[in-house]
Amino acid sequence: MQKYIRIIGTGSAAPDQILTNVDLEKMVETSDKWITERTGIKERHIAPKDKVGSDYACLASQRAMQMAGVTADEIDMIILGTVTPDAPLPSTACILQDKLGAKNAAVMDIVAACSGFIYGLSIARALIMIGQVKTVLVVGVEVLSRFVNWSDRNTCVLFGDGAGAAVLRGSDKPGGIINAYLKSNGSLAHLLQIPMGGSRIPLDASNVGHEDRYIRMKGSEVFKAAVKAMSEAATKILKICELESKDIKLMIPHQANIRIIEATAKRLKLPMDRVYVNVHKYGNTSAASIPIALDEAVREGRIKKGDKIMLVAFGAGFTWGATIIEW
Ligand code: UT7
Repeated sequence: MQKYIRIIGTGSAAPDQILTNVDLEKMVETSDKWITERTGIKERHIAPKDKVGSDYACLASQRAMQMAGVTADEIDMIILGTVTPDAPLPSTACILQDKLGAKNAAVMDIVAACSGFIYGLSIARALIMIGQVKTVLVVGVEVLSRFVNWSDRNTCVLFGDGAGAAVLRGSDKPGGIINAYLKSNGSLAHLLQIPMGGSRIPLDASNVGHEDRYIRMKGSEVFKAAVKAMSEAATKILKICELESKDIKLMIPHQANIRIIEATAKRLKLPMDRVYVNVHKYGNTSAASIPIALDEAVREGRIKKGDKIMLVAFGAGFTWGATIIEW
């Protein structure tokens, strides 16, 4: 049994190719001004045709393992959050396992959209705690550019590709993941979905080019739900951990829209200098958003030993949740 579960390494990776708001002005009726003011996004990374999510997941994982000083053989489990798998079968985690050479690991994908990384951390923490596994790699990866309707200005400006990873291990020293809070509401699934491509409506010749093959979102309804759910999750996890906003050194929220992030911070009375933001560089990378931001915050020295940080997410499903970590 392990009491303290620590993140001992983080890593991230994104495609080299960048699509700016100005580039998008040439593709749909939009403007840099509108996208910047309504979302905070300036650019996003887009995977070239010959790359898949597991390629970026592999790079991010190798960087996390290098920081952790952990070899592929030592990974007991890989938990990978994605809604844009390399293929329907097998899991992207299996493909990543092979690319990493993590031959001793049990692996699985989880589908919790933008909350995938927080769900993964929570599952990893529980399994290490009960002693079932020692070292877990938690990954969030998306290639959303393949699932975006590039002629729909309501959605195509919002999303990007990338991956983030963290290595978790039990420790005798106090600290690590203090607790986690997870929640879902499947009755609101219709507000953010890809209607086709599953067993209900398989992809076939009759629906080539159909808009339901791509991400469909009722933006303003999702926006309101996101602010409410992220504030709720943050408030709940503070209560569970018997902490207050003032104890949180840095909040790392899901990066979907700067206005959602600011509204959540305001409700928590957290000044923006204690909130990590990189949505301008990546757009919304769903499950990859929080681990990319966490890795950048760590490498920029924004998180010091002993700091309490909060991760908070909201995504399709709806799913949402938060966790507090003492670094
Ligand atoms: O990761 C999971 C969570 N996802 C999110 O959190 C996304 C949540 N939603 C949002 O971030 C925002 O709702 C959006 C950024 C998607 C939209 O912002 P909004 O302030 O809610 O705008 P809106 O949907 O109310 O649309 C306002 C107007 C509309 O025009 P009309 O109907 O008022 O004439 C849209 O057609 O803005 C128009 N519009 C655009 N204009 C220029 C929508 N997209 C664009 C665009 N460029 N790209």
